[in-house]
Amino acid sequence: MRRWTIVAYKKQATFGSNFFRIDWIFFVALYNFCLLELNPLPFRRLNESQSLVTGASSGIGREIALQLAIAGGHVLAVARRQNRLDDLVDEFHSRRGTQSKHQSRASHKLGSIIPMSGDLTIERDRHRWADWCQANWGGLDILINNAGSGAIGRFDTSSPERVRKLMEVDFFGPVELTRACLPLLKQRSKTNRPAIVMVGSVLAHRAVPLKSEYCAAKFALRGWAESLRCELASERIEVLQIDPSTTRSEFFDSLIDTPAGTKSESIGSMSPQRVATLTIRAIERSKRRMVLSVGGRLLVSASRWFPGIVDRILSR
Ligand SMILES: NC(=O)c1ccc[n+]([C@@H]2O[C@H](COP(=O)([O-])OP(=O)(O)OC[C@H]3O[C@@H](n4cnc5c(N)ncnc54)[C@H](OP(=O)(O)O)[C@@H]3O)[C@@H](O)[C@H]2O)c1
Repeated sequence: MRRWTIVAYKKQATFGSNFFRIDWIFFVALYNFCLLELNPLPFRRLNESQSLVTGASSGIGREIALQLAIAGGHVLAVARRQNRLDDLVDEFHSRRGTQSKHQSRASHKLGSIIPMSGDLTIERDRHRWADWCQANWGGLDILINNAGSGAIGRFDTSSPERVRKLMEVDFFGPVELTRACLPLLKQRSKTNRPAIVMVGSVLAHRAVPLKSEYCAAKFALRGWAESLRCELASERIEVLQIDPSTTRSEFFDSLIDTPAGTKSESIGSMSPQRVATLTIRAIERSKRRMVLSVGGRLLVSASRWFPGIVDRILSR
């Protein structure tokens, strides 16, 4: 990114007016300073890290769990469907088999995935997961709040239950799981740099029609995470916000209180593997905020600079 800003500056400097050039020098210097300022930390090592990943039975969470474990991390993989978690463990073992044959670095220890079923919206289950981490690991390095559900449909014809159910899964669940895990993360803050990762959405930045409850839940999660980031900075616990765009997962097959077959309109989509790779990269590099797709970044910028035009386009 820094290289691009320098290239942009050089191009501008060759044909800009004096005034424009000074403007650019200032902008480029400030931008590079901000980049340096915001990322002064060394890479986070995932080898032998201990993580809790919610929503690991499918889509993005499944891929994150796999990639963390392949990187040598230990993962408590949670979701409601035990059979799908068992499939995940099987896939990890088959991938690990091929990986260990090619493993050349002796220092790279093999990871593991521990499946544990449970419902994020049930307090007893959240505490069971946290207690397991305490009993078996004596703390936690990374909490990945990924599990989530969506809903599609107009608000004026929706039931009051729909917004409550969505808020339970997409907002209260991760908030309360984080509360349960905070003591475990704090135990690691003296030796490591623990992290809490929110898998949000580009719709946490710009709401769209027919997904009002989902957007509200994701906005709420992002707002809460921003506050938490500042509160926990002095304890060396990082809060990262990863915002994917439409992803090819089972998300649209399990929408809450939505007529079967309802389709979501989107331009393009990402694979869960790609989302997971970018998420892992963000964790390694302590990227605090990341809107993953170019389309998502365009939507966020357009709605910041031209909110009226974006409103009009989305209202059609
Ligand atoms: N797919 C997209 O287009 C998209 C775009 C932007 C952001 N996201 C976000 O990315 C995250 C992952 O979504 P995905 O695309 O991977 O969807 P997915 O394939 O449907 O995965 C959702 C995961 O959440 C789990 N889950 C749902 N409700 C749960 C509950 N009450 N308790 C425990 N686990 C629960 C599901 O497991 P069980 O059913 O087994 O419990 C599943 O593993 C979500 O937060 C979603 O909002 C998705």
